[in-house]
Amino acid sequence: MRLISIPILLVSTFLLSCGGGQSQIDKIKAQQVKKAPEPKSLAEAEKNWESDHGIGPIKAFTLPTEIDQVLAASGKETYEAMCTACHKAEEKFIGPAPKGILSRRTPAWIMNMILNPDEMVKKNPIAKQLLMKFNGSPMANQNLTEDQARSVLEYFRTL
Ligand code: HEC
Repeated sequence: MRLISIPILLVSTFLLSCGGGQSQIDKIKAQQVKKAPEPKSLAEAEKNWESDHGIGPIKAFTLPTEIDQVLAASGKETYEAMCTACHKAEEKFIGPAPKGILSRRTPAWIMNMILNPDEMVKKNPIAKQLLMKFNGSPMANQNLTEDQARSVLEYFRTL
């Protein structure tokens, strides 16, 4: 077996190095690495906030122009029960104030942060910097359903 497989290996290595296929892949990999330099501050990470939809179950979506007041009222209840231990609507507390959040985060990013904070603070550039800014105290996963997270987002629009 050995005697047969070594020549095969040699021939295939030779073919690969001639084709240049490998170096092409290396070039693409190098470009991908170059494209995404790690932001050094929250302000730098936030420069791309409009195209950042976060990581998690929610894909990019657009909010309807009208605020749904019924949905917002149910979101307010959830927020008061699950979030006020760490968040105050209008001022910084253990976490940031949600007032005006839609002028610095996309709707999908906000919902992914609520539904999938552990992965967000590990992998998302804005969430990572936010965690550093808040001295490593992480956003808690409160196990909301997608519907609950959507209603809290609607409540945030009324602040
Ligand atoms: C145990 C404390 C704690 C609880 C409870 C908590 N959070 Fe947070 N949250 C934080 C901290 C700290 C941050 C900022 C640091 C980070 O992101 O890791 C944060 C960040 C956030 C952000 C990002 C804010 C921004 O400016 O980008 C959102 C949105 C958020 N929380 C929503 C919620 C919601 C909604 C709830 C309730 C379901 C909730 N949080 C419950 C601590 C908490």
